[in-house]
Amino acid sequence: MRAWPTGRLAYGGDYNPEQWPRAIWRADVDLMHRAGVSFVTLGVFSWSWLEPHKGEYEFGWLDDVMDLMAEADIAVDLATATASPPPWLTTAYPDILPRTADGVIMWPGSRQSWCPSSPIFADASRALVTQLAQRYHSHPALAMWHISNEYACHNLPCYCDTCAAAFRTWLQNRYGTTDALNHAWGTAFWSQRYTDFEQVLPPRRTPTFHNPTQVLDYHRFGSDTLLGLYRGERTILADLSPGVPVTTNFMTMTGFRLLDYNQWAPEQDVVSTDHYRVAALPNATAELSFQGAVTRGLAGGAPWLLMEHSTSAVNWQPVNPAKPLGGTIHDSLTHVANGADTIGYFQWRASRAGAEKWHSALVPHAGADSARFAEVCRLGAAAAALGEVAGSRVEAAVAILYDFQALWAASGPAMPSAAADYPEMAQAVHKSLRDMGITADVVHPSADLSRYRVIVVPTLYLVTDEHAAAIAAAAEAGAQVLVTYFSGISDEHDHIRLGGYPGAFRELLGVRVEEFNPLLDGDEVGLLAAGPGRSNEAGAAATGADTAGADVGTGRRWSEWCAVTDAAPLWTYAGGPCAGSVALARRHTGSGAAWYLGTLPDEAALANVLASITEAAGVGPVVAELPVGVEAIRRRAADGRSWVFLLNHTDDPITVPLSGFDVLTGAVTDGHAALTAGGVAVLREE
Ligand code: GAL
Ligand code: ZN
Repeated sequence: MRAWPTGRLAYGGDYNPEQWPRAIWRADVDLMHRAGVSFVTLGVFSWSWLEPHKGEYEFGWLDDVMDLMAEADIAVDLATATASPPPWLTTAYPDILPRTADGVIMWPGSRQSWCPSSPIFADASRALVTQLAQRYHSHPALAMWHISNEYACHNLPCYCDTCAAAFRTWLQNRYGTTDALNHAWGTAFWSQRYTDFEQVLPPRRTPTFHNPTQVLDYHRFGSDTLLGLYRGERTILADLSPGVPVTTNFMTMTGFRLLDYNQWAPEQDVVSTDHYRVAALPNATAELSFQGAVTRGLAGGAPWLLMEHSTSAVNWQPVNPAKPLGGTIHDSLTHVANGADTIGYFQWRASRAGAEKWHSALVPHAGADSARFAEVCRLGAAAAALGEVAGSRVEAAVAILYDFQALWAASGPAMPSAAADYPEMAQAVHKSLRDMGITADVVHPSADLSRYRVIVVPTLYLVTDEHAAAIAAAAEAGAQVLVTYFSGISDEHDHIRLGGYPGAFRELLGVRVEEFNPLLDGDEVGLLAAGPGRSNEAGAAATGADTAGADVGTGRRWSEWCAVTDAAPLWTYAGGPCAGSVALARRHTGSGAAWYLGTLPDEAALANVLASITEAAGVGPVVAELPVGVEAIRRRAADGRSWVFLLNHTDDPITVPLSGFDVLTGAVTDGHAALTAGGVAVLREE
């Protein structure tokens, strides 16, 4: 075994040599050296090549690739190859195949067609992992184990009979009795009372809305089940290959919501993730940075590993635009700015055949004699130059709380508004802060909140008593806490907290909401600065407006009948059914304050609120007078050295008024850091 590359940011990607004749392998190594590649992930989908028949293994080709990598001084992140079962396995044991909510079998012929609860699949995959661990545990190229691949990507949820039985066992462990289950699920309604666990089913296709707690528990069950499989493999590796770090690649991407990564993260030796840009998303660069912050939060602030992203186009959207030249470097360094210490891609060489032949790669179809490969080589040089940054951590005084369980509950069936989306609010806040030059972490409510001076609680619909208490305690201890609409509404069973919304935060915020009035898509409501409230602070002044009654912007998505019980009203709704009700309020508590925002304000209005809050907290931007379209993030090493990443997210060159040593060019910027269109500078501060 060997250590993960140090002294430079590790750089590389998925290598699938079984797609190519051996003559190409040699050429690959030469090109990897040219590009500065220092690691590859091997074997992610190689099961049928490693075990072509049950119990008959063919490791020769992998031995040769491993030896080649050792010789070439390229570290191997060796996959356990269990992501996709071979045809012989699913043919012999068709029960392995997952089923949709309609009972339709998801057949082989693609990838990942296995049921998460299948004991046959678990046994077969563990047999393979055992072989791999025994064979390669001390191989000089082995630097990391990569368990499975993107758990849940295609096969969760599965609704088959095996899953139904496993779900019943899971519920029995969680609730003990059907009485407790009935209470948690609220089965007194719609004649759903269970008298035996045997009667319980996965939330398969039903005539109308499912029981929401059943759905929520099915999410929990699915995440736990896959985590169990992960642990099974990890235990084998720990026994047979001790000392080699273990990871599995998460998918911190918009749209992927199937696993509670907060439970998975502590079981990783290093948190790794995959991120792909979705062309149709508005604010794509903000999404990129937000997901970096999510991953950093999962890693507890430690450097993380960007296992996969793409040099250019993907092939799984309806239309797949290329990245502009320069975009490869821009995107990867945005991840590095957010705490990644490894830059990885899918995949090394673009395929000729198979389902991903139209996916970009480090070596494109055009070959090494291409503009993209030249950029790949430039990125390799940048990864080497940025070695001094490795190990440093991103500095942030703001936390945005993010909880997958709250997300599941908020996107449950039959809600006040299907459009009131948790990530939307979290990302809007993150982007607004980013545009001001303020870096925010995205962390779970159980994180150590004492590190933060501002804590944003965005649409945290479901919250436990414990987390609500931690948030209140943080305000008491001096933080400025912002809670947004539809937070603190239900408990861990998704039972509504009664007596007025937002139940869990009513006291902290000093507000009481009697009814919601979610807004239809496209509808807006005007917002006005409020007059002086209970305390003698003028509401208007707190959010940028001079006078009470002044127009402060518009809200969308949400409005509600909200009254202050113990807070200063800062904004009210100008019209609509909730006219005159409070849209923004603030309550001082201890040495901090709690703010409540009842709508999704337009960009300028949201920026005003966040400016007031960060100012009250004494939190300023990383770079003063940051030009529009540039993002600035600081990473700091344990010895005090620091670097500011300047990311130009626009198509125009921009100069930033900042001095430092530009690590990428070796030049000293004398108060004029010049960024090319889409360019990045990394300035070591003196
Ligand atoms: C990921 C996957 C890779 C590759 C990539 C394409 O989901 O892990 O194997 O399919 O997407 O974007
Ligand atoms: Zn199943």
